[in-house]
Amino acid sequence: MQAFLDHLDARDPDYALACAIDAARLPAHIAIIMDGNGRWARRRGLPRVAGHKAGIQPVRETVETCARLGLGALTLYAFSVENWKRPRTEVDTLWRLLRIYLRAELDEMHRHDIRFTAIGRLDELPNFVRKELDGVIRSTARNRGLQLNLAINYGGRAELVDAVKALVEDGAEIDEAAISARLYTAGMPDPDLLIRTSGEMRVSNFLLWQIAYAELYVTETLWPDFTRAELLRAILDYQKRDRRFGGIREPLPVENLEHATIPAR
Ligand code: IPE
Ligand code: IPE
Ligand code: MG
Repeated sequence: MQAFLDHLDARDPDYALACAIDAARLPAHIAIIMDGNGRWARRRGLPRVAGHKAGIQPVRETVETCARLGLGALTLYAFSVENWKRPRTEVDTLWRLLRIYLRAELDEMHRHDIRFTAIGRLDELPNFVRKELDGVIRSTARNRGLQLNLAINYGGRAELVDAVKALVEDGAEIDEAAISARLYTAGMPDPDLLIRTSGEMRVSNFLLWQIAYAELYVTETLWPDFTRAELLRAILDYQKRDRRFGGIREPLPVENLEHATIPAR
């Protein structure tokens, strides 16, 4: 958090926003459904792929901000298992842009001590994409800062199917911990905050198990227009929420043991 404030100019409007954030209560894990690239392009009379291209800068800014804030994990939804339904040319462009992003950002990831990981059915991706991903995963594996986790060819239901298959194979006892341990996100904390851009009020098969108690933040902003300020506002909004996890708001009263004892006959 201090590192974040230090690199900002105090006159930057984001400085005041950042100062309002309680560093002790940052979300451990933020997940983002980066939506609205196509609409951003259409509004400008551009092809959809221009929106995907314009969506790279907010990814950079978001990753850098999360790293400087000292966040534990950031999961970005980049491609769903359903996105194969799109025209071949759009899908191919997405893979090319992903490669460009990974190549351009590797140094930056090391500079910010970012550990890169990917979740989804990665074995179904084109070879050149897998190779690129594997290279960045290996290269950043020893970094200890932010875990940047990209969801690619990801589906929440597919993930649960894969987890159940693994459970059956292992013959393990079935409980919540056993399922969590076999998800692609095994070892990661569940997201505390789920952000979706472009105003859609749905989760589109994203982290279905893991978002059980995530706080949701939906903004009308289209992904290419998403800024650091909006990310900070989402975190501030999150910090105002009353997270009850099914319990009650009042602190539990200190137990009065005298009342709790069974009266003697
Ligand atoms: C999100 O933007 C990017 C991906 C799903 C890859 P969209 O491409 O879904 O943009 P809209 O929702 O059509 O505007
Ligand atoms: C969700 O966006 C997937 C990603 C952001 C990668 P979509 O645009 O695919 O979701 P729907 O179709 O609006 O539900
Ligand atoms: Mg969309």
